[in-house]
Amino acid sequence: MTKRVAVLPGDGIGPEVTAWAVAALQAVGRRFGHDFAFAEGLIGGRAFDETGSPLPAETLALCRRSDAVLLGAVGGPKWDENLPALRPEAGLLGARAGLGLYANLRPATLHPFLSDLSPLRSAVTGGQFDMLIVRELTGGLYYGARGRDGERVFDTMVYTEAEVERVGRRAFALARSRRRKLTSVDKANVLDTSRLWRSVMHRLAGEFPDVAYEDMLVDNAAMQLVRRPGAFDVLVTENMFGDILSDEAGMITGSIGLLPSASLGAGTFGLYEPVHGSAPDIAGRNIANPAAAVLSAAMLLRHSFGLAAEAEAVEQAVAAVLAGPRRTADLARAGDMVIGTAEMGGQIVDRLKA
Ligand code: IPM
Ligand code: MG
Repeated sequence: MTKRVAVLPGDGIGPEVTAWAVAALQAVGRRFGHDFAFAEGLIGGRAFDETGSPLPAETLALCRRSDAVLLGAVGGPKWDENLPALRPEAGLLGARAGLGLYANLRPATLHPFLSDLSPLRSAVTGGQFDMLIVRELTGGLYYGARGRDGERVFDTMVYTEAEVERVGRRAFALARSRRRKLTSVDKANVLDTSRLWRSVMHRLAGEFPDVAYEDMLVDNAAMQLVRRPGAFDVLVTENMFGDILSDEAGMITGSIGLLPSASLGAGTFGLYEPVHGSAPDIAGRNIANPAAAVLSAAMLLRHSFGLAAEAEAVEQAVAAVLAGPRRTADLARAGDMVIGTAEMGGQIVDRLKA
């Protein structure tokens, strides 16, 4: 049966890196005998320029009739003066909410052969780590009521018990499929939403007795990430805390150019995008690392299509290229040969064909 993938390249380096994610999926399709159909849609600044909306109704409709979505990145200085609802970022937030994608999976892995790229000493990282941040994606401060009344401006953090429970359940299940450890990050010493969060997580912990569970306050979590990153397996946290901690976790892997993400809802449908942004300063210059986009395609194969062996083939192809001497500038050390987006993507796809 044909599996339908909506492709939303977006802005900046989005189109360049997404092209390689598509090429990787095509190579997987040929090698393993799967039929993937791709259809492109507009999102972000480009969608605003062409249609007046950062999330045209046609794009949401395209996503809804697809089995999964591959997204590049949105945003750029060109649209900085747009009204909030017309910013490229509003397109992304609208897609997350509109598609019910409440669980955002952001793995942060330090490969042993790239461990010298981490800004943390190897005595701190232990030379490698492998954690997964599960960020609640459709609630909290991002979607609560906001406004202005005279001098007062406000954003509100709102969570329902059901919203906390569904993302918590996802995180416990993921921990069960990994090293069986879950850290729930909150600010329960101050916030009522965090006290609700913590009580729901404690109830779930009773249902998953095989998962070692701990609570951690968010300020302490920010510290522990740079103190002993190897101690984490799965972290679960609310939307804004997850936004901040996932950038921190990404940074200590040495390159934001390697980090994929998956945004999932109730079924197998999901949206997959690199964690890095649109990087307008390097757009169109054949510099960007396509690895994060390609690794996002691997997450798509695993989570939306249930193709674990195919996902591993993609991850191994990327790892083999990362271990080699020819890499994009973000990963180059003195003496390395620097290659461009196309060469890096080409190397990955060649390995997939083999
Ligand atoms: C992310 C980004 C987005 C977010 C922005 C672009 C709205 O920072 O995906 O982490 O804050 O969620
Ligand atoms: Mg962010």
